[in-house]
Amino acid sequence: MKSVLVTGAASGLGRHLALAYAGEGCRVYAADRDRGGLETLESERIVPLVMDIAQPEAWDKTALPRIETEGGLDAVVACAAVMRLGNAEDCLMEDWQFVNSVNLTAQFITAKKTLKYLKVRRGSLLFIGSPAARLAVRDEVCYVTFKHALCGLSKSIAFDFGAEGVRCNVLHPGWMRTAMSDREMEEIMERRGLTLEEAYAYVTRFVPLKRPGGLDEIAGAALFLTSDKASYITGAELMADGGLTVVDPGMVGFL
Ligand SMILES: NC(=O)c1ccc[n+]([C@@H]2O[C@H](COP(=O)([O-])OP(=O)(O)OC[C@H]3O[C@@H](n4cnc5c(N)ncnc54)[C@H](O)[C@@H]3O)[C@@H](O)[C@H]2O)c1
Repeated sequence: MKSVLVTGAASGLGRHLALAYAGEGCRVYAADRDRGGLETLESERIVPLVMDIAQPEAWDKTALPRIETEGGLDAVVACAAVMRLGNAEDCLMEDWQFVNSVNLTAQFITAKKTLKYLKVRRGSLLFIGSPAARLAVRDEVCYVTFKHALCGLSKSIAFDFGAEGVRCNVLHPGWMRTAMSDREMEEIMERRGLTLEEAYAYVTRFVPLKRPGGLDEIAGAALFLTSDKASYITGAELMADGGLTVVDPGMVGFL
């Protein structure tokens, strides 16, 4: 049985990934700081790890002893992330540090603590990025900056551990319907007097596929990148964004 660790597994994409890997017959270590969310996920194949992934000692205390005794890891999907609004002038220092601690430092800690096991199984590490790892998003200076940096971390790991058979990639989902994006829709709903449904339609109106991605569609891409079918793919970034990042904003006026 293959073993996969998913961070941010209590909600949204991470939760869906935990269920998808378990559905494929994997043992899933589901890490999140949200105990309530993890409790409803626990099953024969899903092992909840209630922990703050930004704390190295939480890995030592909660995750590693289980992984060690139960036989290692074939894949890690680092999905946990947070968001705080603000631009480079008005963003609070505490928000910058908080987003840095989860969206970048905790990703580094995730790699640092799990590479030892991935090397044994010649496994793979997958970071969940965002179009904001490629493009600027208004008033999201922390999120944009640390998602960009995540791609550098992924490339460094791909280079440094390739000779030991470990692969490392980034998957960039576009809009998906999750708690995180529902919160982002609130501003659009309020500003334009739209329902949640209408707000998602509004933000995806220039996306070539004209809709948010389904969690199954994003999970499918993650399962592929961590599978043996992707055995020659490392240091790569895969867009699963409905075409969002191929659109030239200068041309949308012609639509
Ligand atoms: N929702 C979208 O439209 C969208 C678009 C592009 C990229 N993404 C990315 O997809 C990933 C998943 O996003 P989502 O929308 O499912 O988010 P979400 O807010 O629904 O879930 C994030 C999870 O991470 C957990 N988490 C946050 N900090 C943690 C910490 N320090 N320790 C442990 N757990 C922690 C939260 O408790 C939560 O369960 C993120 O990396 C996000 O940046 C999301």
